[in-house]
Amino acid sequence: MSIDTTQANHEDGRFANHEELWLFGYGSLIYKAGFDYIRRAPATIHGWQRRFWQGSHDHRGTPDAPGRVATLVERPGAACVGMAYRITPAVFDHLDHREKNGYLRFATPMHFADGHVEEGLVYIATSDNAAWLGDASVNAIAKQIQRSCGPSGPNRDYVLDLAEALRALNADDSHVYAIARRLQALIDTE
Ligand code: SIN
Repeated sequence: MSIDTTQANHEDGRFANHEELWLFGYGSLIYKAGFDYIRRAPATIHGWQRRFWQGSHDHRGTPDAPGRVATLVERPGAACVGMAYRITPAVFDHLDHREKNGYLRFATPMHFADGHVEEGLVYIATSDNAAWLGDASVNAIAKQIQRSCGPSGPNRDYVLDLAEALRALNADDSHVYAIARRLQALIDTE
């Protein structure tokens, strides 16, 4: 698959003729919206787990020295807590550009705290995209994040801000917290 997913997402017609829809954010979209939304609410999606397995060439790293950012990988029984945004399709251009480094739009049911469920969109980078990095040890992932930096800033800020946002949501996410802890320990000895 081409590394730039802008066109593929642009051609995805789902929700295009809806006046409003839900967007699920699980990475930077939790703590840094940067687009207009009508309202937002914490939500959970099932069958997916958050992993720092996607390379970032355009935000938190460069093509020569990619950073690591969050994507979702399928795992039956898993639950991923994030933030759902009520948006209009006018925001698609902004989102497609922001998530262009390998992320594709998927439709998924979102579960809200009051028990209601709604179908919406989520951007996911799957293992067949050219920026995919995949699994590595907690130490190796934390070290790569420690040294990476891109046009949107240091990779470490992405991870530490995400961990803080997840704690504020009371999210159970051992992968993110383990990497944030290791990263903080590495930073403390710089
Ligand atoms: C998301 O936040 O939902 C997608 C990944 C990212 O932009 O960090």
